[in-house]
Amino acid sequence: MTSIVTDIDGQKRLAGEAAALLVEPGQVVGLGTGSTAAHFVRALAARGIAVKGVPTSEATAALARELDIPLVGVDDVTRIDITVDGADEIGPELALIKGGGGALLREKLVWELSRRCVVIADAAKALPVLGAFPLPVEVVAFGHKGTSRRICDVLADCDIAMPPRLRKRDGEPFRTDSGNLIYDIDCGEIADPSALADALKGVTGVVEHGLFLGLADIALVGGADGRVTEILP
Ligand code: A5P
Repeated sequence: MTSIVTDIDGQKRLAGEAAALLVEPGQVVGLGTGSTAAHFVRALAARGIAVKGVPTSEATAALARELDIPLVGVDDVTRIDITVDGADEIGPELALIKGGGGALLREKLVWELSRRCVVIADAAKALPVLGAFPLPVEVVAFGHKGTSRRICDVLADCDIAMPPRLRKRDGEPFRTDSGNLIYDIDCGEIADPSALADALKGVTGVVEHGLFLGLADIALVGGADGRVTEILP
């Protein structure tokens, strides 16, 4: 028996709850960031199994502490068994845009240490092509205006005309948990995510970008029909 789940948050919750069932007792679990990942963290806590969590942000660490999930630092583990995290867009082959919440750097560091990466989302985020959501790029604060001009140059080479926008919160530049700044780029349809990712990584001052390519092993997408769809790369 399925029910209609028209609200986006309900679909996120479905995906988060399904992902929590993939975790086994004793595992080291990467805990993603954002509203979908928060559903996963709550569902994981509700299962009451013994796990250790590696949080991808201060916000997620605070939530996990509230829920009595034991935490361990990323440099204090030799393995992360499974990481579950949200995304802003899911494209073909499970290419992702992440970083809408500003945690892309720590997220990518945790994902890259993980044996299995599970992305969870509501149905509206699964798209035939990436690029409607602004692509976040994390840069060091020192010399960031010059960095943004160099980003503009590589964007032009990738046929992207829109200039990067410095992300602000309450009128002030947004700072990540690592003290960096974020520029958001309105790419439009990203024809070649891999070429764009390589180009951005080559810019001095860029710490990381929100393209997660070849990292996700499976997507669990909550739908309006109350079902969770599995998507493989
Ligand atoms: C955090 O930096 C992001 O990568 C999030 O995972 C992404 O923005 C999805 O957020 P929601 O689950 O809140 O939509």
